[in-house]
Amino acid sequence: MASKPPMIVTLDGPAGVGKSTLAKRLAGELGVAFLDTGAMFRAAAYTLGEGAWDWTQGILQQKLGDFEFTLRGSGKDTELLLNGQPLPEAIRNEETGRWASQLAIVPSVRAYMKMAQIYLGHTTSLVAEGRDMGTVVFPGAGHKFFLDADPDERARRRCRQLESQGRPADFATIAESIRLRDDQDRNRSIAPLKPAPDAMVVDTTNLTESEVLEKVLDRVRGLI
Ligand code: DC
Repeated sequence: MASKPPMIVTLDGPAGVGKSTLAKRLAGELGVAFLDTGAMFRAAAYTLGEGAWDWTQGILQQKLGDFEFTLRGSGKDTELLLNGQPLPEAIRNEETGRWASQLAIVPSVRAYMKMAQIYLGHTTSLVAEGRDMGTVVFPGAGHKFFLDADPDERARRRCRQLESQGRPADFATIAESIRLRDDQDRNRSIAPLKPAPDAMVVDTTNLTESEVLEKVLDRVRGLI
């Protein structure tokens, strides 16, 4: 008997909108893995270092050829590994986020990431979150969502998240970083951040995490 193809749910949206939190909870509810594609760009930016976006396409291709991303486990316990190792916590800082956004403009980097993400989606059922999951990487996904929220609300959420981890959080710096990344992610020529035509758009500005999860689950289960 032919085995069922992996189930893919895509979750796209701007920085700080709450995609990772939702992706983890949704993956847990559905019993599948979650793929944080931002973490793939962050890990590449962190490993290659500042200014890698100015390297030639050939050098970048060669360096990325040494990268292998794999997934282990499922639900909130899913682990994304680079060459068999967990990703360092330092990929989460704002500076690495900005580097990742710069690196994400480069054609050879996007081509590599798309290939690596499609490969993971061939082998594993996924909630895949990022910027271009529904539009470019998994255009045939069974369920697509685009989360959005007012930029100031996103900056407040990021501050709360950092504070809860005991890390410094300055609202003005974070709001400016979110504005810069929005501009870069939405206006690039390859795979810009935008909803897929068949995505359900959810404005989360005035919704709790659980309300967003409920809406998305209702859609996946065919209730709305
Ligand atoms: O989701 P995040 O903030 O961790 O992503 C970091 C950067 O990586 C983001 O500003 C743009 C880039 N990115 C991308 O271009 N495409 C994706 N699918 C995911 C992230």
